[in-house]
Amino acid sequence: MAWSAMGFSWTEYGGVTRYPQDGNPKPRMFRANRHKALVNKMGFNNPGASEIRKRLISRKSEDKWPKTPVAANIGRSKKVPNEHAADDYASTLDILWDHADMFVLNISSPNTPGLRDLQGQEYLSSILISCNKVREMKGASKPILLKLSPDNSDDEILETVSLCLSSGVDGIVATNTTIKRPAPLSTQSRKAFSSDGGLSGRPLNSRSLEVINLVYGETQGKIPIVGVGGIESKETAWEAIISGSSLIQLYSALVFNGPTVVSSIVKGIKSRVRESGFSSLSEAVGYKHI
Ligand SMILES: Cc1cc2nc3c(=O)[nH]c(=O)nc-3n(C[C@H](O)[C@H](O)[C@H](O)COP(=O)(O)O)c2cc1C
Repeated sequence: MAWSAMGFSWTEYGGVTRYPQDGNPKPRMFRANRHKALVNKMGFNNPGASEIRKRLISRKSEDKWPKTPVAANIGRSKKVPNEHAADDYASTLDILWDHADMFVLNISSPNTPGLRDLQGQEYLSSILISCNKVREMKGASKPILLKLSPDNSDDEILETVSLCLSSGVDGIVATNTTIKRPAPLSTQSRKAFSSDGGLSGRPLNSRSLEVINLVYGETQGKIPIVGVGGIESKETAWEAIISGSSLIQLYSALVFNGPTVVSSIVKGIKSRVRESGFSSLSEAVGYKHI
């Protein structure tokens, strides 16, 4: 509930895996203040889908459930090989089904060995088939989104998008963190950038925007895009929207700018909509492509 008080209109929890896991040893998160960037190698530390489900049920019973939509982010359990990934994702989806409004399949974290290989067509289509089966079994339609890596080539991303369009994926999240690094500007950032893991925050913004533009160019609004990566101000938020994002999301900016960043972005977007002569925010989505 604190999230909606900050100005968020939706929230996401996770990454959740089928089995409990400790994640990588600490330290596993590094700051690069001069870059407004983080490097993390958390590795999906979480108590596993069944325990999370229990905790969510108890939150609901205590009336601590947000009034705004909630997404669940699902990752592959570290101990499960890619050959069995489809079952692993589908089981977690099944366990969490009643406890989220939409689901994000995360096949793009750099912190689980081999996870990004799941973006290959064969693995990905078997994951999508298994998750679609769970959805059919549930008899209700909740959106299933796929989260992309910024480190794939444009051609690979387009291939993935085309598979999404033909497999009933309801939306695309662009993007996860990158394994690329900018040139360090300080001893602190040199240390952060020398760690394994995914980089988020300001230096990710330009590639994330490229991916949003690329995906929108291909999908033309057929399925929504969630824009994420280095969004930290009304300008970066607006750019993500006119590039094609129907929803936006941020993480690192909360760490560097504090919670007021959310309401300042929300206010900023509202005035940009007015100033640009749009009658609603949805008119601005993808406007750059017209
Ligand atoms: C500490 C940390 C943990 C994260 N864990 C996950 C995760 O479990 N699943 C996921 O899809 N993305 C995860 N991300 C990536 C973010 O959701 C987001 O895609 C990325 O940080 C880029 O956005 P930002 O620049 O606003 O931080 C994590 C990021 C950070 C910094």
